[in-house]
Amino acid sequence: MSANLPGIRFMTGVISPITISTILGHNGSGAYPMMLSSDYRQIVKEAKKRKLTILAKSSTYNEKVGNYKTWNPFSWRCIRIIKDPSLGLVNAYGLTNKGVKYHAKKIAKARQLGVKVIPNFYPEFSKGTEIAIKETLDAISIYRLELGDEFWALEISYSCPNDRSNACLSSPVKITENMEQAIRCTKEIRAHDRKLVLIIKISYEHPIEFIQELELIGVDAAHSINSIRWEIVFPNIPSPLKKYGGGGVSGGPAFLFAFDYNEKLRKAVKLPLIMGCGVMSPFAAQAYADIGADSVSICSVIRINPSNALEIIRYL
Ligand SMILES: Cc1cc2nc3c(=O)[nH]c(=O)nc-3n(C[C@H](O)[C@H](O)[C@H](O)COP(=O)(O)O)c2cc1C
Repeated sequence: MSANLPGIRFMTGVISPITISTILGHNGSGAYPMMLSSDYRQIVKEAKKRKLTILAKSSTYNEKVGNYKTWNPFSWRCIRIIKDPSLGLVNAYGLTNKGVKYHAKKIAKARQLGVKVIPNFYPEFSKGTEIAIKETLDAISIYRLELGDEFWALEISYSCPNDRSNACLSSPVKITENMEQAIRCTKEIRAHDRKLVLIIKISYEHPIEFIQELELIGVDAAHSINSIRWEIVFPNIPSPLKKYGGGGVSGGPAFLFAFDYNEKLRKAVKLPLIMGCGVMSPFAAQAYADIGADSVSICSVIRINPSNALEIIRYL
């Protein structure tokens, strides 16, 4: 087997053939409580040593308290392991973060220390289109201020399956309802900043035409795809996270859905693609390479099976 993943080269920076998505935390240097595990710490080290691109966990403009609270071990139950039919995760994390000003500073420090982390921003369209766009443009200025020339790329997430505008029990914002807002937001970012490399993180529920439109606007790459809503993967089984809206499925059980989507997407756009979701082994990474991924992302495997994650990293 040979992976044959080129990675993605831009004038201002490079995305490695394998990328680590969100699981290394908001600044890419590792997240508590996973840092307590020596296997996890080894992956953090390996990622830095091999200069792997790390896509940060999402920041919102202001601090946000979702379902997951670092200080409350009971809330860690909003991330559960699925054992059947294959190993994966269901999570209803809900975007807990300290806001862009805080995380931009930490990302700047991590980059100074050689961590190849790219920030990820989540525009909160539930606040209204104008506010979300203004916050996104302001966030870009904050990243620029804190990171300077190190700010060459930004991942924008249009695909969180767990966004909820109010309390934990409110119904989740529908991903597909944000498409018009996302198109407007992307146009404004592009008009505001022509050079910034824009990576758009998309959802299984986004029609392919949506990504084609983003390509026309001038995004530079798509990260396809985020975790998939529980009801789609397991239509006949109630989610253990039902009280949080069901959560998003990642890892093994999501792979075939994601693979099918990515195969269609590859035929429909010329954009560089970071393909991910469900990569739990070198074979799955190879499968994405075979259908034309430029880079492959991993996340859940690092949490569930770090030795497999190391194998994937070394293989690629
Ligand atoms: C606990 C957890 C938290 C996540 N948080 C984010 C996030 O903040 N922003 C985002 O864009 N994706 C987030 N994701 C999605 C992952 O980055 C990844 O795209 C998804 O899990 C599919 O890949 P995988 O099957 O390799 O895990 C999260 C996933 C998990 C499991």
